Amino acid sequence: MFGTMAQSPDRVTADLTVRADQAKGTINRNIYGHFAEHLGRLVYDGIWVGEGSRIPNTRGMRTDVVAALKSLDIPVLRWPGGCFADEYHWRDGIGPRDQRPKRINTHWGGVIETNAFGTHEFMDLADQLGAAPYIAGNLGSGSPREMLEWMEYMTSDSDSELANLRRKNGRAQPWKVPYFGVGNENWGCGGNMRVEYYADEYRRFATYVKSYSGNRVVRIASGASDENYTWTDVMMSRVGRQMQGLSLHYYTLPTGDWNRKGPATGFDEAAWFATLKRTLRMDEFIAKHSEVMDKYDPEKRVGLMVDEWGTWYDPEPGTPGGGLFQQNSLRDALVAAINLNIFHKHADRVQMAAIAQMVNVLQAVILTQGEKMVLTPTYHVFEMFKVHQGATAIPIELTAPEYRVGQSAIPALHASASKDAAGAYHVSIVNLDANRAATVTMKVTGASPATVAGRVLTAGAIDAINAFDKPPAVTPAPFTAFQVQNGQVTLTLPSKSVVVLELK
Ligand code: AHR
Repeated sequence: MFGTMAQSPDRVTADLTVRADQAKGTINRNIYGHFAEHLGRLVYDGIWVGEGSRIPNTRGMRTDVVAALKSLDIPVLRWPGGCFADEYHWRDGIGPRDQRPKRINTHWGGVIETNAFGTHEFMDLADQLGAAPYIAGNLGSGSPREMLEWMEYMTSDSDSELANLRRKNGRAQPWKVPYFGVGNENWGCGGNMRVEYYADEYRRFATYVKSYSGNRVVRIASGASDENYTWTDVMMSRVGRQMQGLSLHYYTLPTGDWNRKGPATGFDEAAWFATLKRTLRMDEFIAKHSEVMDKYDPEKRVGLMVDEWGTWYDPEPGTPGGGLFQQNSLRDALVAAINLNIFHKHADRVQMAAIAQMVNVLQAVILTQGEKMVLTPTYHVFEMFKVHQGATAIPIELTAPEYRVGQSAIPALHASASKDAAGAYHVSIVNLDANRAATVTMKVTGASPATVAGRVLTAGAIDAINAFDKPPAVTPAPFTAFQVQNGQVTLTLPSKSVVVLELK
């Protein structure tokens, strides 16, 4: 809701009501998921350096990166793609590493894929992170038999040839595979299919995604991108009960133009504004896809899995285009916070989300350069927001004033709230305005928290980044700009900031 209050040129004012008396459903932890594709320097370099590397590692996985990711409490990790998934043949990635075939990663720069990182390495990574594995299967160029056999290889405890092959390759116990994607973007890189054709293919392939030895698997169908509501409609009407999740992908491009997306840094306020405006559309897309899903599934049995989201800019100058390496600034922190707030709002339908992507690709939480590693502004949002994981969603009412650039206006503030198992409330508020601080008068209905504490993430410039060789410019600090009086909290949020409050 846009507010009508008078606003001064250097400060906006707003009212925020946290409806603690109207608690909704649970915010699924899986909304905080990540995505790791064989693309650019994500897997090779960002995670996998090999056991012989001088970079400290645990069974080939970078110790620094894994430790930093572990602090985010990542609930679920999607692998191996993306577009790569529909070209990946799982048998290439098992057995002695020096005997694995070298392939061409045709989708991402035509680079050589050594297959050094395969099923066993991925499962080890998921285990080191404490994340549930979400395997994306190959429907585009693979076969139902391949999917059937991969599931058996991973999850069967029997005396079958495939379970014994897994044992021979070093893993005695079967793994649990709780999530399996039956193809990816099959309207595009996953086979350029019409939705009616994919719906039939999905039914055929999903039949063979079997669960062995007590494994329970959630089958996720490849869904729409952006506002392709027809895709969702056809999938819901034709596939129905054979899927437990349907994906949605939406990338935020500053320009909206895939040929000229805009740079990750060195942008002006117009690009800042345009990016935030475009990212806010996630709310509309989820609401409308949910509306379509509600027609067929009013009990909300099928989850909407936003398993690719985030910013997509022009690649950093001097890096290969196929590597999708981009910087990550304060703008990305706000994009992350806004999207997570939106997922909380739609917690009844959104059961999972995965930011694209985890390390060194698109909106990464970590960037690496040789032995060096930085935590990006987006990382800090995931760390600050993790208090919402698995909490109860609490509705809010926000009279947000306008943030206007040229002829266009968006709300200057964006927020969400939740209550954790210990009874603490967390409120996350974003001030989108690049120039004006915001004075927010907040009240909580149905509860009387006695203490308030918080953290704030902001920086001097809209495109501030955490660089490899400098002290970090975007890092959380204690938030103290608030007063509590007669059960009302008055907060002053700096311009271009993210604040997470805890009320107990
Ligand atoms: O995340 C990069 C790519 O974006 C993925 O491979 C694909 O699914 C999407 O188009």
